Amino acid sequence: MSIRRLPPHLVNRIAAGEVVERPAAALKELVENAIDAGAGQIAISIAQGGIDRIDVADDGCGMVPSDMALALERHATSKLPDEAIEAVTTLGFRGEALPSIASVARLTIESRVRGSDGWRRLVDNGEMVEEGPVAVPFGTRVRVEGLFEKVPARRKFLRSARSEYAACIDTVRRLAMARPDIGFSVEHDGRRVLQVTAGESGPDRVAALTDRALAEASVGVDLHREGYRLEGVAGLPTFNRGVPDHQYLFVNGRPVKDRLLAGAVRGAYADLLARDRHAVVALFLNVPGSEVDVNVHPAKTEVRFRDPGLVRGLIVGGLRHALDGAGQVRAPIASALALGAWQSGSPAALSSVEVPQQPRMWEQRQSFTPPPMARAEPAVLPAPEARSFPLGVARGQIARTYIVAEAEDGLVLVDQHAAHERLVLERMRNAIEAGEVASQALLMPEIVELDEAACDRLEARILDLATFGLELERFGPGAVIVRATPAVLGGGDIKGLVTDLADEIAAHGEAHSLKERVDAVAGTLACHGSVRAGRVLSVEEMNALLREMEVTPHSGQCNHGRPTWVKLAHGDIEKLFGRK
Ligand SMILES: Nc1ncnc2c1ncn2[C@@H]1O[C@H](COP(=O)(O)OP(=O)(O)OP(=O)(O)O)[C@@H](O)[C@H]1O
Ligand SMILES: [Mg+2]
Repeated sequence: MSIRRLPPHLVNRIAAGEVVERPAAALKELVENAIDAGAGQIAISIAQGGIDRIDVADDGCGMVPSDMALALERHATSKLPDEAIEAVTTLGFRGEALPSIASVARLTIESRVRGSDGWRRLVDNGEMVEEGPVAVPFGTRVRVEGLFEKVPARRKFLRSARSEYAACIDTVRRLAMARPDIGFSVEHDGRRVLQVTAGESGPDRVAALTDRALAEASVGVDLHREGYRLEGVAGLPTFNRGVPDHQYLFVNGRPVKDRLLAGAVRGAYADLLARDRHAVVALFLNVPGSEVDVNVHPAKTEVRFRDPGLVRGLIVGGLRHALDGAGQVRAPIASALALGAWQSGSPAALSSVEVPQQPRMWEQRQSFTPPPMARAEPAVLPAPEARSFPLGVARGQIARTYIVAEAEDGLVLVDQHAAHERLVLERMRNAIEAGEVASQALLMPEIVELDEAACDRLEARILDLATFGLELERFGPGAVIVRATPAVLGGGDIKGLVTDLADEIAAHGEAHSLKERVDAVAGTLACHGSVRAGRVLSVEEMNALLREMEVTPHSGQCNHGRPTWVKLAHGDIEKLFGRK
């Protein structure tokens, strides 16, 4: 078999396989070109999720006819004047996008530089079809039609128009977030689906593109370190989502999907969110050009850092600092949904509360009716100084689970389990930082059987665990013996604790900083240390809990990101009774 050089149209089609994987990828390239051309306004129109048509019009610098011909040639770019890829500040630099797209679709470019005439060029699946003068506004308009129509192998892999559309919108959202100075509009099948105006502030742009409610439920991030800068918006843990799609990450203005960055975000929120919940963030990382390689992925969505540990530390540190600064008393007020539930005091609902139904015979034998769990304390007036407590004064306890407190501006309900778990965690963290974790020897050392790999992991961390007050030793191949536990836990389910710890250690590999590993272990310990779960509390104990919450960071949410307290403002109570 003889070796031959591939003709350019085939080379382009092969490159298109990497660069233009689906309509959203073509759209991304076109919008990036418009941004690089200095556009102030970018108008996008797509049909059938971009499968039928993608149209991107900008008011940027435009191209003269001779440049337009070059633009469609492979490896032709205006963006590397001095050949320094490390110093590239534009989104494009490979000179590949347009010829790749043109090799797998019908591509029309119309462009006009200010002060001269417009020109139009049409290429159909790699073949030049026609070109000539055209009357157009200044700037550039690129239209891509019938993507992959002549590449059936590719077309087969396209998903439904709906999911291609979702990918297109996500792409525009990310690019628009990176450039609040530019206006963007998107039309899909003739309907306006997105519009943001030029010149918004960064946080406003993020809120406009994600969720307006984020503005109220987020904190700003701003951290400088050694020529690195991290800015952006971090959603409060209680504003979490079931999917990680609402994490927008940028490196030097470029939207990226980067495992290292996503892992760092997860690490920063680790003890604030349940494992299956995800934070909402938009983070803009700016690093010196020499510290990052942007040329590692054909679609330019991945980057490589020279010092990954530093980047990870910066993100975890920046987010933690911002979230710590959010203070403890920023829990959500009762949501409209919860309020709706309060309003269901219809006669039917009331009767089910006030008139217990007659238990049937077999129930009478198997169970007995428990005494009511709610207790009311005499409603004495709070001492005058108590009025200044944000979480109010405890008035009673419901279901051995919720504390009812009266604050100056409303009724506060506290989930004592959740709140206590958070307090234990923060106490433990402080003790660890001060190097004074108290441990309590067990009267009877406990042997815990585990699989060998889990025992190995625990054994490797014996010294670390001792700093938490957990003393254990290896006990044969498949067991460990626990001699002392952290005093703050006050006993409890030791096997459950040790098993969870082994899992936690497995999940946190060496890439994580010591501090993160400590946080993870402390979180697990705290979870096991919520001794107050389901316990009857005295009024003094309840008030002590409320006061401790007021001075403890992050006490507004439990270790899994659920709120620890809600407030029903006086106005809301009045509404419930129709007084307002
Ligand atoms: N909207 C536009 N306005 C002005 N010039 C453009 C526009 N789109 C493309 N060009 C010109 O065409 C050239 C080729 O574009 P193309 O997207 O193929 O490559 P690139 O942007 O240089 O690099 P990459 O392949 O990384 O995107 C660009 O370098 C630019 O000079
Ligand atoms: Mg480009």
